[in-house]
Amino acid sequence: MDFKDQIDINRLPEHIAIIMDGNGRWAKNQGKFRVFGHESGVLSVKDIVEGCVEIGVKYLTVYAFSTENWNRPIEEVNALMELLISTINQEAETLNKNNIKLNAIGDLKSLPQKCIDDLAAAMDKTKANTKCTLTLALSYSAKWEIVEAARKIAEQVKDGKLAINQVDEQLFASQLTTVNMPDPELMIRTSGEHRISNYLLWQMAYTELYFTETLWPDFRREHLYEAIVDYQKRERRFGKISEQLN
Ligand code: IPE
Ligand code: IPE
Ligand code: MG
Repeated sequence: MDFKDQIDINRLPEHIAIIMDGNGRWAKNQGKFRVFGHESGVLSVKDIVEGCVEIGVKYLTVYAFSTENWNRPIEEVNALMELLISTINQEAETLNKNNIKLNAIGDLKSLPQKCIDDLAAAMDKTKANTKCTLTLALSYSAKWEIVEAARKIAEQVKDGKLAINQVDEQLFASQLTTVNMPDPELMIRTSGEHRISNYLLWQMAYTELYFTETLWPDFRREHLYEAIVDYQKRERRFGKISEQLN
């Protein structure tokens, strides 16, 4: 039986976060340049977005470029930025046709201007779409995000707009880049690495983590469905004991 048929559609994760890892190794395994892996990884993104829409996942957030990735060789950084720009421009219309809203989180102002502009245009074009929200984490790191939130809160306290005792988890979450999104129930990382790499640290406080050896360019919706089936077998206790859950 297909993994898709095993999914309980009534207990779908509303939000799936992915660390798309392994592009470089995938290319190297074939004697190709790393950038070939990144280009091939775009096909995986397209298939996973379609796969999410097909079953009704409402939010998909993919780690496309981390704050730390700026430290890669300049040629690779440039190639990634160019790929990002061309992909956004090629896919904006398809996203729109499929009723998918494009969103981006991260320190976007650190991206090349062309990227900022084209991303803003694609987000504007798709802003009224309701089927699924695809969020690209770009120049993103969770520590950056948390520090930014702390700064914004401090500013409001300083200006007398907020009292210190109003600062609670809900208020803090409202200052993060993921405001208006539920926390991910499931996080998938490809390529066999078992780490979080500065991704959504606040939001993943209770996320189910799924690691697979599959390299990102080989990852297709069938792998996604396999991860969802695995997720649905887990008991999410949130600190309680089994007997307390219904
Ligand atoms: C993930 O693949 C894509 C980005 C980080 C941009 P990698 O480029 O990290 O590939 P590996 O991990 O070196 O194989
Ligand atoms: C994490 O992958 C960031 C993205 C997938 C964009 P990396 O390949 O950069 O992660 P580390 O540095 O190996 O943990
Ligand atoms: Mg990597």
